[in-house]
Amino acid sequence: MYCCASNRNPGIARLAAGVETVDETDAGAVADCAEDVGADAAVIGPESALAAGVADELAARGVFPFGPRADAARIETDKSYQRRFMREASVPGCPAFETFDAAAAAADYVAAAEGDVAVKPAGLTGGKGVRVTGDQVTKPEAVDYVRESGYDDWVVEERLVGEEFTVQAFVADGEVRPTPAVQDHKRAYEGDEGPNTGGMGSYADAGPVLPFLTRDDYDRAVEILEATVGALDDYTGVLYGQFMLTAEGIRVVEFNARLGDPEAMNVLPAMETPLADVVRAARDGTTLPDLSFAPTATVCKYAVPAGYPTDPERGARISVDEDSVGDALLFYASVDERSDGLYTTTSRSFAVVGRGERIAAAERQAAAALDAAGDGLRARHDVGTADLVQRRVDHARRLRGD
Ligand code: AMP
Ligand code: GLY
Repeated sequence: MYCCASNRNPGIARLAAGVETVDETDAGAVADCAEDVGADAAVIGPESALAAGVADELAARGVFPFGPRADAARIETDKSYQRRFMREASVPGCPAFETFDAAAAAADYVAAAEGDVAVKPAGLTGGKGVRVTGDQVTKPEAVDYVRESGYDDWVVEERLVGEEFTVQAFVADGEVRPTPAVQDHKRAYEGDEGPNTGGMGSYADAGPVLPFLTRDDYDRAVEILEATVGALDDYTGVLYGQFMLTAEGIRVVEFNARLGDPEAMNVLPAMETPLADVVRAARDGTTLPDLSFAPTATVCKYAVPAGYPTDPERGARISVDEDSVGDALLFYASVDERSDGLYTTTSRSFAVVGRGERIAAAERQAAAALDAAGDGLRARHDVGTADLVQRRVDHARRLRGD
């Protein structure tokens, strides 16, 4: 296995036979790299690469891309397309929305809207572009934000109120193999305060559902993924659904065209079916394997640079004591390994994942690993704690009217 990425990640470097550093949005350079190493399949991780047509270029050079072509990846990379597609294809769970191609018109619409809304730049923003009125911002703040952000294309949609969860599925030839549900924590600070981030941590239970979800809720989310795949032409790779459990049922917050970060770190360590078997079946056009998962709960906590996400301290030297994490897993994220040590970038630095029969045990393992691994970075210590999980359960109960 070879890796081709924009910075050198020491964890991947250790697993890979070789690492090439290239701009991951330079489709030609990525394909050159795949050809150089004689790859016959490539798994495309980041959305920026999908948007840049890396899958298209790989396919043109005869390297099987496990990841959608740029056109199909618009399900993630163009939120206006995503909503219009849902409406036109009658995919269930779509909130009421309007799309705009001029900020002034979007801002006027927000100012006149009756209820609370979510305002979303249509393009990629690393998970940091959305503002929700009545939650993170007031209506006038949202209007100013739309006017002043410098984006032209916007989606304005009804605010969904509820509990969020993620279901990711492997997809090829119209087949959908779902993985267990995960709950991410988008907000920067404990107690779900502060700005949105790429995700500060996440947990999954020892089964496909979460403590606040029923099996019906999970099945409904999977049906939405299946309906989406059914309506998309020739989608290959991972389809990630971000869902909201609301008082009116399951709604779609968004789709991603790749594994979630951090959600991949919950699902992949528990997956007993080799990922390579899934990719190989997709490449060969054979039936995707049924997936099996260990009955393991996982809690993932991210360590991020000071100031993340608004004003992250880039280039700070950090040290990570890999031997201190015990049975937890350690995943480097956006760090740069240079000859004299490890440095922060503007994004999340590393994550620890605790595992256990129950979420509580997994949380204890993750918390201990985070304390031991290194300091100077910030984390959300509340992810996966009994207290926070109970608040989710109570909230879901209120939503269901129990
Ligand atoms: P996105 O970039 O689409 O993942 O949105 C980031 C976050 O904004 C989501 O994880 C939600 O917490 C929030 N969000 C997005 N759309 C809505 C909505 N319609 N109602 C409420 N919150 C939303
Ligand atoms: N956890 C959200 C994402 O990967 O976009």
